[in-house]
Amino acid sequence: MESTKLRTIIQGIPKVELHLHIEGSFEPELMFKIAKRNKIALPYDSIELVKAAYQFNNLQEFLDIYYAGAQVLLYEQDFFDLTWAYLTKVHSENVVHVEVFFDPQTHTDRGVSFDVVINGMHRALEKAKNELNISYRLIMSYLRHLSEEAAFETLEASLPFKDIIDGVGLDSSEIGNPPSKFKKVFKASAAHGYKLVAHAGEEGPSAYIWEALDILKVVRIDHGNRCLSDEALVKRLVDDKIALILCPTSNVALKVIKKMDEHPVAKMLEKGIIATIHSDDPAYFGGYMNENYYQTAKALNLSIAQIQQLALNAFQASWLSATEKEKWYKKVNDYFNTI
Ligand code: HPA
Ligand code: ZN
Repeated sequence: MESTKLRTIIQGIPKVELHLHIEGSFEPELMFKIAKRNKIALPYDSIELVKAAYQFNNLQEFLDIYYAGAQVLLYEQDFFDLTWAYLTKVHSENVVHVEVFFDPQTHTDRGVSFDVVINGMHRALEKAKNELNISYRLIMSYLRHLSEEAAFETLEASLPFKDIIDGVGLDSSEIGNPPSKFKKVFKASAAHGYKLVAHAGEEGPSAYIWEALDILKVVRIDHGNRCLSDEALVKRLVDDKIALILCPTSNVALKVIKKMDEHPVAKMLEKGIIATIHSDDPAYFGGYMNENYYQTAKALNLSIAQIQQLALNAFQASWLSATEKEKWYKKVNDYFNTI
């Protein structure tokens, strides 16, 4: 399909973001602005030099830069500005529902308190709900390179805010930090009413996806790219309707795949997996939702029906109510009937 036409179609789809680290939406322009007002020196002299540094060979090289960037966030207003900038950006892309990850430990370990982080984000999310009609859920992620004990401290710190936090996730350095390391804290999180997700099978093996399902008991998998090498696992994902929350531009940027035309999403759809497309850390990987849809559709030559399926899958995998889901399935289908 012709590129402009494909971009126009993608723009018009009502979309859902289910895999977005708010710290990964920190655009260099805003990073410089906040660093200046907080009087923090950045290790770069210009926005151009920051962007030039965004070349990664693997997940860890990215994480080192991502955690460094987050150091300039100190005050509630900083977290508000970060979140509001993200929400206005995705509103322009017709994203109607977001389920946002945040990494409390990246901030609390620097002495920024949990309430500062969550109050700033929450104020922006409420404003977007009222002014931009974007619904939201919030997911706090435990950093898997830290201990389970540290995750328990984070769980404790979150409890005064449990009405505004919907779930917990697991992110950061995957290899060597299997899901089973967090068995107890996930069980305790569920007991407090949190829904459960985890990054698994991004760089780590399919065994980590099994652990996330069987030991942590997650309801969906973030990434999960590695599942196709394991037929029994594919069957499990299909039978139990476990969605894979994929991030194609991230996968290329972090060299999880060599080129976009190797992305497994089309094969996953063929196998009946509820695969969905999202942006992960768009300020670092160069693509918000539309760009992820566009690059994937282009490289894999996806049909209109496959693009429609991806859009519907994201609503299905979301934590919207059944009534809300039905409303959006109809809107998506009506939209595709007009093109
Ligand atoms: N993987 C693991 N941890 C992360 C990522 C990711 O893609 N983005 C932010 N933290
Ligand atoms: Zn992620």
